[in-house]
Amino acid sequence: MALHDKFGRQITDLRISVTDRCNFRCVYCRSADPENYRAKDEILSWPELYRLAGIFKTLGVRKMRVTGGEPLVRPGVEEFISHLRDLGVEDISMTTNGHLLSERCARLVSAGLQRINISLDSLDAAKFERITRTKLFASVMNGIDVVQASALAPAKINAVLVRGINDNEVQDFAVFARERDVVMRFIEFMPLDADHHWNRSLVVPAAEVHRRIHARWPLEEIPHHYSETARKYRFADGAPGEIGLIAPVTQPFCGHCSRIRLTADGKIRTCLFSKEDHDLRSLLREGAGDEDLVTYITSVVMEKEEGHRINEKDFHPPNRSMVFIGG
Ligand code: GTP
Ligand code: 5AD
Ligand code: SF4
Repeated sequence: MALHDKFGRQITDLRISVTDRCNFRCVYCRSADPENYRAKDEILSWPELYRLAGIFKTLGVRKMRVTGGEPLVRPGVEEFISHLRDLGVEDISMTTNGHLLSERCARLVSAGLQRINISLDSLDAAKFERITRTKLFASVMNGIDVVQASALAPAKINAVLVRGINDNEVQDFAVFARERDVVMRFIEFMPLDADHHWNRSLVVPAAEVHRRIHARWPLEEIPHHYSETARKYRFADGAPGEIGLIAPVTQPFCGHCSRIRLTADGKIRTCLFSKEDHDLRSLLREGAGDEDLVTYITSVVMEKEEGHRINEKDFHPPNRSMVFIGG
């Protein structure tokens, strides 16, 4: 059985947020305000997540990405990844802020993790501290080094560009890609920040990033899978490393979207920008059988939104910020 929506898109990717907690408070994501985490019993237990992963697998989901908050702050992540491997999930990945990676990388690899994406928004320690509101630059860099020496290499490094904050580092990041042989990805800032500071003038268009790197080191496009978020480029001079441009604002890719999300508190989100969540957790806890869950998931996915509408006049940001959606 497969999951389709009414626009004919097949859903093959599931992003599973395993916690709404995070040890960073990035300005483009979380508020500086005091903690406002969900109560523990609102978060899906590991057995609940195991069961749902199995059901999504039977529905044709081939890629599962473990996210948060910060996934590595929840004990039991490695066992969950082993479970996904034992289920036979084809592509198992994680998105992390990298802080706990150096000590966890080996266990993640032996659990069956295949790919890793790490956030890194500045190569300057002081600026990194201002963006993430932590003093953990050195531990993230160390985490990247450990990954690069592991079976997970090459890491994908995600930088969300915000005009006036880190857009002057584009070429430095390109050098980082070339020297460290990583996939360096530049992400357009989306209206998902808890403080609602987003506005169009803060977005650094992917075309500008391309122009600035290409002027210094000519880039050649690499073919990408139609549903990938990033356009991919290699350096024409044969240097190591790769560049990825993720342009949800200036070049929306919703028409090819193959993703849905499961939030830590057990809601299905059919789009990053969904106006409403779909409450799988209640159904699960009311004792629904697998068939009921399949029927519910199938009907929710059928109604997946056509796109994010960021560029429409009447756009309103969703009521959940990135940390509560799960990347
Ligand atoms: P790969 O499978 O490695 O290509 O991962 P990915 O790019 O899907 O995952 P990652 O967690 O690294 O996400 C990178 C960025 O892509 C996120 O910060 C988002 O900004 C953006 N992104 C991911 N999924 C979506 C989506 O469904 N819609 C939009 N608009 N942006 C998305
Ligand atoms: N716009 C774009 N990307 C964002 N992320 C978090 N908040 C935003 C935002 N407002 C990114 C993080 C991480 C990924 C899961 O989402 O940098 O790489
Ligand atoms: Fe944490 Fe990721 Fe949000 Fe930063 S972007 S505060 S690392 S969840």
